[in-house]
Amino acid sequence: MCGIIGVTGSGDALPVLMEGLSRLEYRGYDSAGVALAAGTQLWTRKRAGKLAELVAAVGDAPARTSCGIGHTRWATHGRPDDRNAHPHADCSGALALVHNGIIENYLPLSDELAGAGHHFASDTDSEVLAHLIEARMAEGDGLADAVRHCLKAVKGAFAIAVVHSSEPDLIVAARRVSPLIVGAAEGVGLVASDIPALLGHISECFALEDDQIAEVRPGSMVVTDLDGNEVTPSRLKVDWDLEAAEKGGYEDFMLKEIHEQPKALTDTLLGRLQPDGTLRLDEVRLDDDELRDVDKVFVVGCGTSYYAGLAARYAIEHWTRLPVEIDIASEFRYRDPVVDSRTLVIGVSQSGETIDTLQAMREAKRWGAKVLVICNVVDSSMAREADAVLYTRAGPEIGVAATKTHVSQLVMLQLLALHLARLRGTMYPDEVRTMVRVLHELPAKVEEALGRDGHVSEVALACHQVRDFFYIGRHVGYPVALEGALKLKEIAYIRAEGYPAGELKHGPIALIEPGTVVVGIATGGHLLDKVLSNVSEVRARGATVVLVVDDGDESTAALADHVLWVPQTHELFSPVVDVVPLQLLAYFLAKARGNDVDKPRNLAKTVTVE
Ligand code: M6R
Repeated sequence: MCGIIGVTGSGDALPVLMEGLSRLEYRGYDSAGVALAAGTQLWTRKRAGKLAELVAAVGDAPARTSCGIGHTRWATHGRPDDRNAHPHADCSGALALVHNGIIENYLPLSDELAGAGHHFASDTDSEVLAHLIEARMAEGDGLADAVRHCLKAVKGAFAIAVVHSSEPDLIVAARRVSPLIVGAAEGVGLVASDIPALLGHISECFALEDDQIAEVRPGSMVVTDLDGNEVTPSRLKVDWDLEAAEKGGYEDFMLKEIHEQPKALTDTLLGRLQPDGTLRLDEVRLDDDELRDVDKVFVVGCGTSYYAGLAARYAIEHWTRLPVEIDIASEFRYRDPVVDSRTLVIGVSQSGETIDTLQAMREAKRWGAKVLVICNVVDSSMAREADAVLYTRAGPEIGVAATKTHVSQLVMLQLLALHLARLRGTMYPDEVRTMVRVLHELPAKVEEALGRDGHVSEVALACHQVRDFFYIGRHVGYPVALEGALKLKEIAYIRAEGYPAGELKHGPIALIEPGTVVVGIATGGHLLDKVLSNVSEVRARGATVVLVVDDGDESTAALADHVLWVPQTHELFSPVVDVVPLQLLAYFLAKARGNDVDKPRNLAKTVTVE
């Protein structure tokens, strides 16, 4: 996830910027850069790779420059290279800008600006902001007014910091959706995306709210709204140590990432919808005719990414009427599947580097299939080698157990399914629009589900001595059960089996005995009655029953010893919401056992061996 730092009034800005950038490294990044306000031009350096590359490149920085901005980039638009690293400049080189977030309407805006003679030096969405501000300043605006004007024109999410050689001690900062903190004290002004970057420099700072603009100068700052009215931002007391600050105040990265899911979903959906309600999947490099020609779909992945495929299968089949097979990557590549040039193989991977999935994608290409990859890491091996790529925009995931990337994969697969259905004419545009509306309600529903974490922790405490768990579900509830069981195994080290609820009676029910915990996915799908019959079967054998239940469904709740309530949503999207209490349950059970949830034993975040 990108990080921002800016300082003005410091005797020497560069060391403050470099220290701030190193404190932002934990968020993950692929390139970094700084710009210093030095005389009539700005001095800028940016480098792909680790911070050490940037450190090696700033040796000739002008001495004792008191104002500057810095950035660590996590690529979303444009590959991670020197050109696309921030800061971005305007055409004159007098302005430098850093940006976190996604500018949804950057394409039409950059077309317009290019038509007016602006030259773009990168493939990013961010650069458009630099040229928009430049255009406005050319009409006579000062920097802050130009920023204000430009922000009225853009759609999407942003936190920005801008410097201009005409006012070399001023940083203009603004935000919408993406967080930004500002502060001023004792002759210094600071701007940052996260508290760790500011630690040690300031003890009190202010969180900008949406569409607020801060003019930060040495020792002073003014905050205004988009219309220029002065406003008071919210005060923040900075009393965290570095470790707590990196985790955003959460105990672990995993918990932080679980709570970042609404944002991950919002960002993944951002800009995917055209003004007329149709879908824009602009990274799909397969043209519409090639996609219309598809007669079979495989979704291939490992672990949690494989489960995302399993959960999305129901929507893909239902909406597109295409046959869909879901395969574990390490099996797919060796089993001689029936694949030809009309087959679409979708690889799903958080890292884009998992060797089993990467090799499966290579095989699929060799067999002549069209290969599309859904992954979270821009320019990863899979992204580079596939015919097409769709990026989830969950930001870096540090906890080994996948959480926010899983729900983002689900939503991305569902968007792709709607896209295919529209192309194939198996859904009316109205139906697609309705589904997209429901998709946009998911971040709020996930937020609501997260709000019940206190209750999930009580359920975990009640069960933490138990050694055997079963997770059961039918239809879309089945992959949710598999994912819930995997999370429990990975971080709590508790034996857990995910099973199709209807299959229990064909064998595994022999393992149910008094005290076994059975977690049932019992939200309101069309097979709820059947799930409840299976729940009754395990209850009769003494199992302790935990059910995931839609808000208000008291009759289902009555069958459970413990209820995990979730907001109701469309059946095909329910895995996105229903998985949330299961992530939390695994988390609290692991904590109750004293486990390190971020680095569970025997596991690696990215598995690059077969
Ligand atoms: O990076 P990938 O999504 O390709 O990784 C696949 C699996 O290794 C991964 O999902 C693994 O199962 C996680 N630890 C799950 O929490």
